[in-house]
Amino acid sequence: MSKPAHPTPRVRPRRGKSMAAKADRHELYELSVQAPETDAATLAKLYKKLRKRHAMSLREDFCGTAVLSLAWVQSKPGRTAVGIDLDQPTLDWGLAKRIEPAGPEVAQRIELHRANVLDGVGPKVDVTAALNFSYMVFQQRKDMLAYFQAARSMLVDDGVFILDLLGGWGSMGEETNRRRVKGFKYVWQQRSFDPLTHHFTCAIEFEFPDGSRIEDAFFYDWRLWTSPELRDLLYDAGFSKVHLMWERTDEDGEGNGKFYEPTEEVDNDESWWTFIVAEK
Ligand SMILES: C[S@@+](CC[C@H](N)C(=O)[O-])C[C@H]1O[C@@H](n2cnc3c(N)ncnc32)[C@H](O)[C@@H]1O
Repeated sequence: MSKPAHPTPRVRPRRGKSMAAKADRHELYELSVQAPETDAATLAKLYKKLRKRHAMSLREDFCGTAVLSLAWVQSKPGRTAVGIDLDQPTLDWGLAKRIEPAGPEVAQRIELHRANVLDGVGPKVDVTAALNFSYMVFQQRKDMLAYFQAARSMLVDDGVFILDLLGGWGSMGEETNRRRVKGFKYVWQQRSFDPLTHHFTCAIEFEFPDGSRIEDAFFYDWRLWTSPELRDLLYDAGFSKVHLMWERTDEDGEGNGKFYEPTEEVDNDESWWTFIVAEK
């Protein structure tokens, strides 16, 4: 029997109270892949560089648990955020476990909407972010164009739209990477890659020292878009300038979290991730 297109998370073995059965997949995800304070600081810096003013309002498309929205409003008094996601249980988790515990002054500066990012729900903002590659859920050119048009329409006149992007030959194939995090292993699985369409399926799993695991904790059915395709679509959607950023490296050739717009060709790498910044 073939695997369902969107498998649901499964704990193995099911018996007893294994470490996997007691774990919370959103908490594990947060510990493994999210760095909301760093991301909020990067968005603020990219905006300030272009617009010479502080961005105050953020729209977090595909917000999930909205921890980036939370970090954003905590990064400066008066900052506001609006988070958009289709999945109500995930929004509820973020609200109950992260946003409400931060206190009413912080919570009242965040709006969460269960909505499609295509629908243009919520107020216009200074910065819209679509991070962790979530926009790759749109696999047809017309759908990505519609998303970019919607994102543009929800920006103020000097608004900026920021996406992240991954690539490199290591991302175009089947691969499993394990990384030790606090008391468990984070497993990134690239399950399939079609070189003709760039259809790309991947999953996140978690493994525990008692041998238990959460399979398909998160599953993604994406198209791996390339940087020039996205740049062209952003221009087609009406953005006035598109900046393809690249990460600076330290003496050992490792990325140092600082991004710039190269004026010359950059070196290819087995795997990389970066930002694309589009001005309204
Ligand atoms: C990869 S998670 C991203 C979570 C978070 N943004 C992060 O940085 O880790 C993708 C999220 O996108 C949401 N999603 C997928 N399609 C969507 C759409 N069309 N509109 C709104 N949310 C969507 C899913 O419900 C899921 O929570």
